[in-house]
Amino acid sequence: MPDLDLPQRQEPDALMLTGFWYRALPADRVHRNQLHKATLLEIPLVIGRDRLGQPFALRDACPHRGMPLNCGRFDGENLECGYHGWQFDVHNGQCQLIPSLTADQNLKVDRIYAGSYSCEEQDSFIWVFIPDQGTPGAGFAPRTEASEPAPQIEKFSGKYRSAYLQAEMPVSIDHGIIGLMDPAHGPFVHQAWWWRTQHSMHEKKKNFEPIPNGFRMSAHTPSSNSAPYKLLRLYADADAITTTIDFVLPNIRTETIRAGKYWFSSLTTVTPITRSHCRIDVVAAWNLFRWVPFVPELLKFVFAKFVEQDRRTMELQAEGLKHNPHLMLIDDADRPAKWYFQLKAAHLEAKRTGAEMKHPMAGAVTLKWRS
Ligand code: FES
Ligand SMILES: [Fe+2]
Repeated sequence: MPDLDLPQRQEPDALMLTGFWYRALPADRVHRNQLHKATLLEIPLVIGRDRLGQPFALRDACPHRGMPLNCGRFDGENLECGYHGWQFDVHNGQCQLIPSLTADQNLKVDRIYAGSYSCEEQDSFIWVFIPDQGTPGAGFAPRTEASEPAPQIEKFSGKYRSAYLQAEMPVSIDHGIIGLMDPAHGPFVHQAWWWRTQHSMHEKKKNFEPIPNGFRMSAHTPSSNSAPYKLLRLYADADAITTTIDFVLPNIRTETIRAGKYWFSSLTTVTPITRSHCRIDVVAAWNLFRWVPFVPELLKFVFAKFVEQDRRTMELQAEGLKHNPHLMLIDDADRPAKWYFQLKAAHLEAKRTGAEMKHPMAGAVTLKWRS
């Protein structure tokens, strides 16, 4: 008898996890000497690149009287607030100048900070680290540095191509993520004559194993009814193709497909913008089809179609969720969603107690569903 569960209702601070890197903006939209607005976890940010092209992220509020810093002037090094002209170093937020001070007023300007965030460019995106200790910007503290570098797509050769896609969805991060890992919606949401129809539904059996902060769908030969795999057949026997899919907190799904020396890797994130809004960013890298005209375009077309089908579905779902309906998670199809909620709860519990995180999975598990 399949097990039935109700998804936990999430408190806002359990909804959006701090202490992690998040994708803020596509790197190709952030130009030198320019300022851009972005929002992560309801935090307003101003993001830019200095004159050498190095990215930075500041809280979009002046520590003096809260003026949005994106309305200020940026000379490629310091950002000058548009209200009283205080100037801040964009890389660490430290105040450099308060123009109203007279020569005999010895206010220690360098003890004042605009909120500043660790910021890195990685695989087509500007990533920002959102630390735990509230949001910086209280005015007198330098920032908390990230303890690890931003996540990267795994690549298996020096030469490769890459592309990204994004879509905004009017649902909470939790619905965005469980939608992303949901194995049962494919035949209904992603129908197309060139892809698959409900008639190609069949029983699937996949092995999952715990990994730090997440779980892995163990390396397997991919399902016969999916498009990248159909394309991969051009390169290798079905038996030689393996795919591995990982999910790790707070929001990362990676998929690696290997066929001999050819590979395709993607790193998808669902980013909380506000508690009721998230954005999906898919970045893929591959060394297949580099010489074949149109194949990258075709791949991008297929992915774009998929992401659009998911986005449209979640837009409709948001309508239903407005009225706060009862929801449920069933076994086995919704087990990954249950693990996600359990991982989140375990992570928060470990943070609260200072003890090591207790992984919700005791060991490898086989799940079965039809899709
Ligand atoms: S509000 Fe920014 S300088 Fe006064
Ligand atoms: Fe989907």
